[in-house]
Amino acid sequence: MLIVHTAEELQNRMKSKSASLGLVPTMGALHQGHLSLVSRAANENKKVVVSIYVNPTQFNHSKDLDNYPKDIDKDIDLLKPFEKQLILYVPSHSDLYPEGIKSKKFDFGSLTAHMEGASRPGHFNGVATIVEALLVNIRPTRAYFGEKDFQQLQVIRALNQKLDLGIDIVNCPLQRAENGLALSSRNALLTKEQKSEAAVIYQTLEYLNKSATDWSVGEMELYFKSKVEAIKDFKVDYFSIASPSDLIPVSHLDSRKNYRIFVAVYAGKTRLIDTIELVRK
Ligand code: PAJ
Repeated sequence: MLIVHTAEELQNRMKSKSASLGLVPTMGALHQGHLSLVSRAANENKKVVVSIYVNPTQFNHSKDLDNYPKDIDKDIDLLKPFEKQLILYVPSHSDLYPEGIKSKKFDFGSLTAHMEGASRPGHFNGVATIVEALLVNIRPTRAYFGEKDFQQLQVIRALNQKLDLGIDIVNCPLQRAENGLALSSRNALLTKEQKSEAAVIYQTLEYLNKSATDWSVGEMELYFKSKVEAIKDFKVDYFSIASPSDLIPVSHLDSRKNYRIFVAVYAGKTRLIDTIELVRK
């Protein structure tokens, strides 16, 4: 597998500048969720760059950063099937932060005011700083992001519009484990028991879609909390229902509008997020 460590090396390796290029930014500890993005990028582009970089500025606590799972050998194995088309970019800090590890300040308005933006102050400045550096340095034809991090996806769409580099942002559906748990690198930090108990998150979201069709937002939130917090050491950080375009949580549903449910849950010390489209017939 071709592995490069600097953007300069990457540019040199991309001989034919006119060939389409797909970029899949990741923080490694890859799983089938990431691979669904890589596979789509490989289908839609001549070449694919996968970046693996655990970005310090998007973490709120140094402990969370230190504990973030890393397994580059396994990542390389998982990417092997795409080897012919793929360049793996594993930058050092100085390649992406030549002026020191610090985030820039952005204003994304309502997109970052709630949910992950409220629970993790500064997080989206860190994400936008690194994604801007990747988009500007690599200039792909298309960049791929997962709906698992739906708020991040919308922030990146807004960032991309500001940058105006003619890059297509492609959103890819959330991939789940067999028990419904949203795939995440952080799942590696769960015990076997927590992993199976965490199925309650998706099961309850599904229940709200299928069987609670006339409930109010408040009733749905109470039910979600009661189901999740019935499990030992599980705690709901937030339950929000918001329009996918402005990401402002609502307390009443308007039948003419579309919504998504967004949740964050602590399973012990591990923080999990999930989201589904709210279906109302
Ligand atoms: P990371 O959590 O490694 O995720 C990399 C990409 O994979 C993101 O676009 C994310 O939404 C997507 N992804 C993760 N789990 C997924 C799942 N279960 N189904 C579908 N897609 C999934 O997100 C980040 O890294 C970082 O914030 C990054 C964008 C790389 C900036 O540092």
